[in-house]
Amino acid sequence: MAERIARVVREEPRRSFGFLIGVAALLAATVVLVIGLSGTPGAAARGRSAQRAGARTAALSQSQISANVDHLLGEMTVAEKFGQLEQAGPGTPTGSDLIPLAEQGKIGSVLDLTGVDNINAVQQAAVNNSRLHIPLIFGLDVIHGYRTMFPVPLGEASSWDPALISTDESVSADEASADGIKWTFNPMVDISRDPRWGRVVEGAGEDPFLGSAIAAAKVTGYQGSDFSAPDRLAATIKHFGGYGAPVAGREYNTVDMSTQQLFNDYLPPYKAAVDAGAATVMSSFNSLNGVPNTANPYLLTTILRDEWGFGGATISDYQAVQELEAFGYASDGADAARLALTAGENIEMAVQIGATAGQPVYSTYEQYGPQLLKEGKITMTQLNDAVRHVLTLKYLAGMFSNPYQGSDARVASSELSPAHVSAARQMADESMVLLKNSGGALPLSPSTANIAVVGPLADDALNQLGPDVPIGYDTNAADLKSTDKIVTVADGIKAADPSATVTTVNGCTTFTVDDPCNETGGFGAAVAAAQAADVTVVVVGEPSGMSGEASSRTSLDLPGQQLALIQQIAATGKPYVVVLMNGRPLTIPWLANNAPALLEAWYPGTEGGDAVADVLFGKVNPSGKLPMSFPVNVGQVPVSYNELPTGRPYDPTSKWNSRYLDAPNPPQYPFGYGLSYTTFGFSNLSAPTSVSSTGTFHVTADVTNTGSVAGTDVVQLYLHESDTSILQPVKKLEGFQRVALAPGQSKTVTFTLGPQNLGYYNDQGQFVVQPGPFDLWVGDSSAGVGLNSPGLHTTFTLS
Ligand code: BGC
Repeated sequence: MAERIARVVREEPRRSFGFLIGVAALLAATVVLVIGLSGTPGAAARGRSAQRAGARTAALSQSQISANVDHLLGEMTVAEKFGQLEQAGPGTPTGSDLIPLAEQGKIGSVLDLTGVDNINAVQQAAVNNSRLHIPLIFGLDVIHGYRTMFPVPLGEASSWDPALISTDESVSADEASADGIKWTFNPMVDISRDPRWGRVVEGAGEDPFLGSAIAAAKVTGYQGSDFSAPDRLAATIKHFGGYGAPVAGREYNTVDMSTQQLFNDYLPPYKAAVDAGAATVMSSFNSLNGVPNTANPYLLTTILRDEWGFGGATISDYQAVQELEAFGYASDGADAARLALTAGENIEMAVQIGATAGQPVYSTYEQYGPQLLKEGKITMTQLNDAVRHVLTLKYLAGMFSNPYQGSDARVASSELSPAHVSAARQMADESMVLLKNSGGALPLSPSTANIAVVGPLADDALNQLGPDVPIGYDTNAADLKSTDKIVTVADGIKAADPSATVTTVNGCTTFTVDDPCNETGGFGAAVAAAQAADVTVVVVGEPSGMSGEASSRTSLDLPGQQLALIQQIAATGKPYVVVLMNGRPLTIPWLANNAPALLEAWYPGTEGGDAVADVLFGKVNPSGKLPMSFPVNVGQVPVSYNELPTGRPYDPTSKWNSRYLDAPNPPQYPFGYGLSYTTFGFSNLSAPTSVSSTGTFHVTADVTNTGSVAGTDVVQLYLHESDTSILQPVKKLEGFQRVALAPGQSKTVTFTLGPQNLGYYNDQGQFVVQPGPFDLWVGDSSAGVGLNSPGLHTTFTLS
């Protein structure tokens, strides 16, 4: 892929709160007000002043927005129209190179520019100096935090708590919008069953039902009920579609799948997010069944617009329109522009406009669009439709009425506010998954005298944020703990047990993607610390750069010599527990068989160390459940609980069935699995024996805390239908609830099910509800209860 020309600002120093720029922004706001009130330029401006009088754009009805957009379209030149479809990133740290483009109306939106002063200066150029005074909208990957960093999305998904996830996104929206960002390229709602693919860290795992609940919650969290509110963002669902199933788990690779698999497994979170009102949709880099998604009319028009009624804007992925040539799908840049635009791609992302000779040209719409129009290869209606979506987005985002939504004052009051930091801790607490705990290894006594905290991630503030730290985040080593307030595991343990002697030893000389603890020279100090301690907390995992975009792996083992480090600590015979930080399910059979306790912390964010300590010392009883299966070995991949049945179901005692010779079929740890410091029992499952294809019905079950400490369980309901025209998964999640229980307490959990839970998409992509016999299970993992018990089971018939 081409160089990311816009990414040079990653090391940008943090914003300055300069008086002069603040005054400039104020003046700019005044100027736009005057322009609006003076009636220039025409009805669009009158619309703007009307909005101002009525506070926010939302005061405008759909038809008023439509009328304003139509009027603007009537005034725009062809070049200005194509300009609105281009999205550029800054080539200089302040974005000064964007100013002439904004003034000339050559861009409609900006990505990757941060800092409210920078943003307001570029906005001012568009609003004051462009011919039609159309504001820009500023977008960024705000994935799991802006300044207050939450656990990575796969970690958030482990909470199975959509309401809390929604809160996280509203915190991110508040912080990012304070800084002038108005549009996030998130949530990533791609389902994946292949942990080789590095981007599983950005999503909600392998299941469409859980993924849909989380997708909708994220959209609502970012947007609220009206994303013109200054503290909200427009959301983007990405990457449409099937992006999570690249062949061999290799990033950007081909996706080839049946219609029914696409509709049943990969599209539901998109549909849920569209129904929740997502403002924009980003197409994916991959091809789907032979057609690159950047120019895929079946996805971008037939499914998205015609079937789902999506009314927002679509956007390509980074320079992906140009890449249609590299696919060999478009013959040249002009053809790429034609194919993308006519397929339904509204905005071209990450363009380079006015490139000097010899540099690649990514702005295919702006470069070739006018000629394509002249030649009749695209129509004015197609162009106007695309521009209409962009202008409407800006109206809905309140950009016309309030183009300067960020401010230094908002930045100062929102970033890392106590409420935001406490939300990050709560989510980190809920995202921890206790994978193993033998012999009461955990929780640790809060009065343990000597604790060794060992391993490359024991005290690594930056890595614990994961791979998606937003552009503009202060990554200076000296600022991570002070300015960014990141709490590492070592810090968290010290704070939780202040009277303990805590010895922190990294053990690994380096911990990078290229050298992820390959040297064992530092192990001696780590082992000595373990020898001297009452207990050792070993914190291992992946350097954060090993997951995320362009980070596929063929091995899912702990990288480098980290397992050897743990084995040396184990050989001391002293107590130890293992904390994992990683962005994907790993293959950890030795740990599963030998470690006394295993806590999956993912990359837990700003408050990660406090949250790990909360769980280690039992202040918080872990309640996270895996959103994605942990395979035994990489040969099992892709692996998920919701596979289709075979004619020769798994039987490890005989040969001629669907199995491996050298490994079991079940994963090490299945979807939905996670332990607690207490135990839960299930009883009294009740469901009707026969249900109809219309209307709803209830399933109830009792869950009891059978242990001696309070805890929260995630009660899960699974279904399977037999005798269908197209095979249905052996199990599929159709309900879940978090239930908090005091010791000995029971609660009755009620699930309400209806046709949407019973039906499936057929090979034409049509949703059908087909009569037949159903199995129903209730438990707290896809394996029933825990790892092996079947859970409660009943059957019913759909007639
Ligand atoms: C990623 C997108 C992201 C975009 C802008 C692309 O490379 O695939 O997920 O939103 O860059 O940063």
